[in-house]
Amino acid sequence: MTRFDVAVIGAGAAGLFCAGVAGRRGARVVLIDHAERLAEKIRISGGGRCNFTNVDGARDDRYLGEQPRFARHALRAFGPDRFITLVREHGITYHEKHRGQLFCDHSSAAIISMLVDGCERGGVAWRRPCTPRALRREADGFVLATDAGELAASHVVIATGGLSIPKIGATDLGYRLARQFGLAVVEPRPALVPLTFDAAVWQPFAALSGLSVPCQVRVAAEPAGASGSADRGDPARPEKAPAFDEDLLFTHRGLSGPAALQISSYWRPGQALSIDLAAGEDLEAALIAAREGSRQRLDVALATLMPRRLAETWLTQWLAGSDRGAMAARRIAEIGSADLRRLAQALSAWRVEPDGTEGWRKAEVTAGGVATSELDPRTMQATRAPGLYFIGEVVDVTGWLGGYNFQWAW
Ligand code: FDA
Repeated sequence: MTRFDVAVIGAGAAGLFCAGVAGRRGARVVLIDHAERLAEKIRISGGGRCNFTNVDGARDDRYLGEQPRFARHALRAFGPDRFITLVREHGITYHEKHRGQLFCDHSSAAIISMLVDGCERGGVAWRRPCTPRALRREADGFVLATDAGELAASHVVIATGGLSIPKIGATDLGYRLARQFGLAVVEPRPALVPLTFDAAVWQPFAALSGLSVPCQVRVAAEPAGASGSADRGDPARPEKAPAFDEDLLFTHRGLSGPAALQISSYWRPGQALSIDLAAGEDLEAALIAAREGSRQRLDVALATLMPRRLAETWLTQWLAGSDRGAMAARRIAEIGSADLRRLAQALSAWRVEPDGTEGWRKAEVTAGGVATSELDPRTMQATRAPGLYFIGEVVDVTGWLGGYNFQWAW
């Protein structure tokens, strides 16, 4: 049986990087992955241009998990600057987009080549495609049984990622191995994922599909009814979930776009969202100003402050069933300040109650995973299973949208 110092299971972002570094530091490393195509998530990331980090990638408040500060040790030891240096050394040109997001100028294939090159220089042995069958502890390390035979390793690094996009190779192997060695797993759930609504509730808004508007979104202060999930890593506490100023995209089934994806990581079933469709502007003042000398109908005046289709649909829904039903057709000049204030308040705190998410098929990442309380934050070694390490998305650390998840993987 071939013996290695380190066996890394999963040749995605975290596994490729880890194997290369360990190999270049002199360890005999084997890297195992069951997928036919290498590092498919890196390849498709960032629309094919890999948003490989964020200039703010070392900020631990950009990551969520049961222990929000767990990531700080790793991020201090290896922050975005270190990865950017590597990218530069490899002659990969990149550019900064929205909010510090760094993308390759050309193709994410350049990042994959850089990581593969790192493994080659470290003399990493490849086993791929190769499916691990069982991992057992032996006196001097571990034995990994695979469909290509057994191998022995003193240390095993689990880098099998999360559950999103199963069709490109995501599995729950990492969580199963954690449980096998007695480690707690925070129930995995789709994150950075579009939110869905009850079809009847959403029906009026479905017609807005494709419309994108700037907004500010947060988890509403009061739960919408149900008490939320009982998983370990209890429901997002609204006071802890930040507000996101981003674009919101209406879809046939609900809400997507950066605003919905960001808040989805914090949202739990049973919670409502509060959406400021005025995106932080003083809508009341704008409506009162619009009233001066205006002969416009209210719905027409509102449409000067936001997309017309949204103004009409939203106003119709807001007025439906209220005694102000005819207000939309009245001239704004005839509407009292109290009603305009109520309207402005409702638009800046539009309360919606998602009934779910688009699930693993559409989730960009997995929240939850191997509990950080089980891992040493400086080494990622399982404190109760010496020699066993967990890195990347399989761990209960989830980054915001915008390059944070790759930074965590590196
Ligand atoms: P990753 O998923 O990269 O790798 C896991 C590896 O383990 C895979 O190669 C898989 O085949 C292997 N594996 C799984 N089960 C196995 C088993 N049973 N046996 C053997 N091998 C197994 N993030 C970001 O920061 N910027 C971005 O631009 C994007 N864009 C993006 C787009 C899309 C469409 C998705 C789905 C995701 C992103 N992400 C992202 C998230 C990012 O891709 C993700 O967080 C990292 O790839 C996680 O790296 P890991 O190495 O932990 O898992």
